[in-house]
Amino acid sequence: MRVGVDYYPEHWSPERWETDARLMKEAGFNVVRLAEFAWADMEPEEGRFDFSWLDKALDVLGRNGVAAILGTPTGAMPAWVKERYPEVMATGKDGKRLEWGVRKNNCFSSGAYRLLSERIVAAMASHFKGNPNVIGWQTDNEFGGPQCFCLSCRDSFHSWLRRKYGSLEALNKAHGLHFWGQKVSAWSQIPLPVDYGAHNPSLCLDWQRFNSDLNVRFQADQLRILRELCPKHFATHNFMGLFSDLNYYDLAKDLDFVSWDNYPVDEGLPGEFPYRASMAADVMRGLKGKNFWIMEQTAGPHGWGTYGRNVRPGELRKIAYQQVSRGADGMIWFRWRSCTAGREQYWHGLLGHDGKALRRYEEAKLTAQELHKLAPLLEGTTVEAKVAFVYDYESIWATQIQPGFKENYAKERALRLYSALRRSGVDADMIPPSADFSKYSAVFAPALYIMPDALAKRLDAYVKAGGVLFFNGRSGVKDESGLCHERTLPGLLSDALGVSIEEYEAFNDSRISYKIRGSAELPGEYASKRYCDWVKPLSAEALASYGEWHLDGYVAATRNRYGKGFGFYLGCEVDGDAFYDALAACVLKAAGVETLKLPEGVEASVRSGAGRRLLFLVNHSEKELQAPVPAGAKALVGGEGLKDGVLGLGRYGAAVLRLA
Ligand code: GLA
Ligand code: ZN
Repeated sequence: MRVGVDYYPEHWSPERWETDARLMKEAGFNVVRLAEFAWADMEPEEGRFDFSWLDKALDVLGRNGVAAILGTPTGAMPAWVKERYPEVMATGKDGKRLEWGVRKNNCFSSGAYRLLSERIVAAMASHFKGNPNVIGWQTDNEFGGPQCFCLSCRDSFHSWLRRKYGSLEALNKAHGLHFWGQKVSAWSQIPLPVDYGAHNPSLCLDWQRFNSDLNVRFQADQLRILRELCPKHFATHNFMGLFSDLNYYDLAKDLDFVSWDNYPVDEGLPGEFPYRASMAADVMRGLKGKNFWIMEQTAGPHGWGTYGRNVRPGELRKIAYQQVSRGADGMIWFRWRSCTAGREQYWHGLLGHDGKALRRYEEAKLTAQELHKLAPLLEGTTVEAKVAFVYDYESIWATQIQPGFKENYAKERALRLYSALRRSGVDADMIPPSADFSKYSAVFAPALYIMPDALAKRLDAYVKAGGVLFFNGRSGVKDESGLCHERTLPGLLSDALGVSIEEYEAFNDSRISYKIRGSAELPGEYASKRYCDWVKPLSAEALASYGEWHLDGYVAATRNRYGKGFGFYLGCEVDGDAFYDALAACVLKAAGVETLKLPEGVEASVRSGAGRRLLFLVNHSEKELQAPVPAGAKALVGGEGLKDGVLGLGRYGAAVLRLA
C-alpha cells in the first residue's frame, strides 16, 4: 500500500531534503507526488531542460524508501510560455485574454500549448523512465478549466459539431434552431454560448461536451508519450470528487486508475455526517469500476485567502478510513509542509511553516502504520454494492443549463437519497447510464434529466426482469440533443412506473409548500418544497399523497409492480431527511436489500473479495458510540472497545473488522 504526501522539494533548500525524507520514512510514508507545478524549474527557458535538482531530490527520497509519482507540469505555465506564445492564454467571455500569474489558465485547443505540453512531458518521460524511484505519473493537475472563448476554440467547436452532425440540416434539427429563427447556413455562423441562461440549451450542452473532450484530448496527448516511453509506470490523474464540469468517465478511460483530492473538513459542523465525501468516493470508484487512490487528503486548515477549521484529534485518521472503506488503495496527504510563499501559504500541511513534526504528522504516522498492517488484507477487496445510482454528467450539465426549478441541483438531489442509504448501512455504486443494471437489486436514477430512448428501454427491461427502479421529478424529460421528448412524462417509462404526469409546477417563492401525507407503508406528514409533479397513478399505488384541495386525485410518491420488479416514483422535492429515509426503506425492502441499525453518527461499509469480508465502522461524531457487530467478527484495527458483540467507538473512532 502506498501512503505518503504531496511534496514540493523546490520550495525548500536542498539541505532540508534529508530531514524531510527521514521524517517521511519514520512515519511509514513510501510515496510522494511531486513536480506537478515545477515546469519553470524543469524547463527554465524554452527547450533547455534541467532535471538535476529533481534527480537529487528523488535520490534523497529513494534512499529513504520513498518512491515518486511525477506530475506532468502543465497546470501552471512558466512566464516564458506566455511571453513567447501569448495565444496560449485562455480568453474569457469578454474576449479578453486571462492575465498570467495564476494557474489553470491555458487554452486547451491552442496548438502551441499542446506542443509545449508534449515537449515537456516527453523530456520528463525520457529523463525519468529508468529512475527506479519513479513509479507512476499524474497528468496535469485537477483538469477542469477554464472554458476558453478564443478564435481557435471557436474553430475547434465548429469542427467538432461538423464531425458530430455531418450536415447543417442535422445540426439545425438536433438543436431545434427553428426557434427564434436561429437556423444556420454555415458552420461559422454558430455562436459560442456565452450565456447559459439565454443561449439555446442544446447548443450549451454540446459546448459543455466539446470542452470536456478538449481536456480529454489534451490528456490523451500526454498519455500517448508516457505509455510509449514509460510502459512500466502507471498513469493517473487527480480528480475532484463531485466536480462535474468534465465528463469524468471519459477522462478516466485512458488511465490505469483514478485518484482524487479530498478536502471534506469545511463541510458542515464538526461531527456532522460527511456523506458527500462518501458519495464522491463512490463516484470516483465508479469512473472505472475499480478502487482508487487519494492523491490529496486534507492535512490541516486550508484556504487561499481565509482558511477553515483544523482537523480535530482523531479526525485526520477518520477521514482516511472513510475513504479506505469506500475503496481507496493509496493515501497521500496534501501537503507535506505548509509553504511560506505564494497563494497557498495557508493551505496547511502535516507540518506547519516551522517544519516540526507535531500532532498532525503523528496522527498521519499512526494511520500509515495501521494501513500498512491492513494492506495484505485489503488486497483484492472492494465495495460490492447491491444498489446503484445512475450518475450522469450530461444530465448534470443539462440541469445546470436549464434547471426548471430553483435549487434543482442534480447532485444534491442524488445526495439526499444516497445519504439515506448511508444512514442505513447500505453501500452503493455510482454508475454511468451505459452500465449493466442487471447485477443490482435496486437502481436509483434521480434527476436523470437526459433520457435517450435506448436508456429508457434498458431501464424498462431491467424492471420487467425483476429490478427495482427509483425515478423522480424532472427525470427523463429531454433527449440526448437536449430537446424535450414529445411524450407525456415519464415517457417510455410510463409502464414501468405506472404513472402519468400531465402537469407540473415549480415554486419560486420558498413560502409555497404542499402538505404530503404518508401512507401506512411510508408513515408520517411531510412538506414539499420547490417542485411538484401532478402525478396521476395509472397502475401504481400511492405511497404518499398531497394534502391540497387542488391536487385531489393526484399523488406524490408511488410504487408500481411491473413484470417481476417495481418502479418507484417521487413527484416532488421534500423538506428534511425523514421522508427520504422512509422512502429509501420502501425501495430497499422491495429490492430485498438488508439494512443495518446503526447509532446516529456511525457509517458502515464493507469491502469484500479474495475470500475476505472487511467491515469498516467510522464514527463521524464527537460522541462515544456503541455499534453492534456481527457474531464472530474479529477486530483488525481500532477494536479495543469490542466486547460482547458491541464495539465502542470513541469520538472520530474508526475500526476495521474481519467478518470472513
Ligand atoms: C488543489 C490542487 C493542489 C493545491 C490545492 C490547494 O487540490 O490540486 O495543487 O493547490 O488545491 O489549493
Ligand atoms: Zn481557446
